[in-house]
Amino acid sequence: MRPSSIAVVGALLALMSSPWAAEGDPAAGKRKTVTCNGCHGQAAMKNVPSLGGQTPAYFVAAMVAYQDGVRSHATMRDVAKAWSLQDLKNFAAWYAEPLAPASEAVAAPAAAERCASCHGADGREPVTPDVPRIAGQKANYLAQVLREYREGTRVNAVMQPQVAELKDDDIAVLAGYFAGRAGLGVK
Ligand code: HEC
Ligand code: HEC
Repeated sequence: MRPSSIAVVGALLALMSSPWAAEGDPAAGKRKTVTCNGCHGQAAMKNVPSLGGQTPAYFVAAMVAYQDGVRSHATMRDVAKAWSLQDLKNFAAWYAEPLAPASEAVAAPAAAERCASCHGADGREPVTPDVPRIAGQKANYLAQVLREYREGTRVNAVMQPQVAELKDDDIAVLAGYFAGRAGLGVK
């Protein structure tokens, strides 16, 4: 291959991977996680989401949503406001790893079939970078979030229609299923 073609291929690859790339410095992110660890580092805090392995683009979007008030959680709004966009990218780069190896295949419950079209099989490999990983997320947090979308207290035009018809039993099944798949972890 001529050097110019190699450069073109390299640029294309960079473009393809850029939405997933954190554009951040994980070491710089880690240095600022002292306060985060008090909540996100605690497996026992069942309503605090696990961040280890989360997709960087979603991570940054979530923090910006707290800054802008689109997500209303009072503590996280105060936390998010303290940081620049570069800080958020650095946090995202730090929390992007590790992702636990995939667990053995099992049949997904019927209620979870449609979720794969965006969140990927098992909720592990979302099809676009603005979609979060949900495999391995804490069950309590998943159930709480699905109820919030259903009730409209968490606002998102894509997710709200997905859960509008769900019963509490469906939510419990979905939360249990995705929490039981390997993926995200407490970090
Ligand atoms: C006092 C506890 C607490 C602290 C400290 C805290 N968080 Fe959070 N965080 C939460 C809770 C609770 C939620 C879920 C809020 C909600 O329902 O929207 C959350 C949500 C998040 C989310 C969204 C995750 C998702 O799956 O949507 C991100 C990203 C995040 N926190 C990052 C951080 C970072 C980075 C820090 C440190 C700079 C931090 N948090 C500090 C409690 C905390
Ligand atoms: C059409 C695409 C699409 C489908 C289908 C879909 N989702 Fe989502 N999901 C998203 C997007 C985009 C977000 C981020 C929304 C936001 O920022 O609030 C999201 C967010 C979530 C979250 C919040 C995660 C977090 O860390 O806070 C959960 C939980 C979730 N989806 C579960 C599901 C389940 C369960 C299904 C199937 C019943 C499903 N989704 C179907 C696109 C989709």
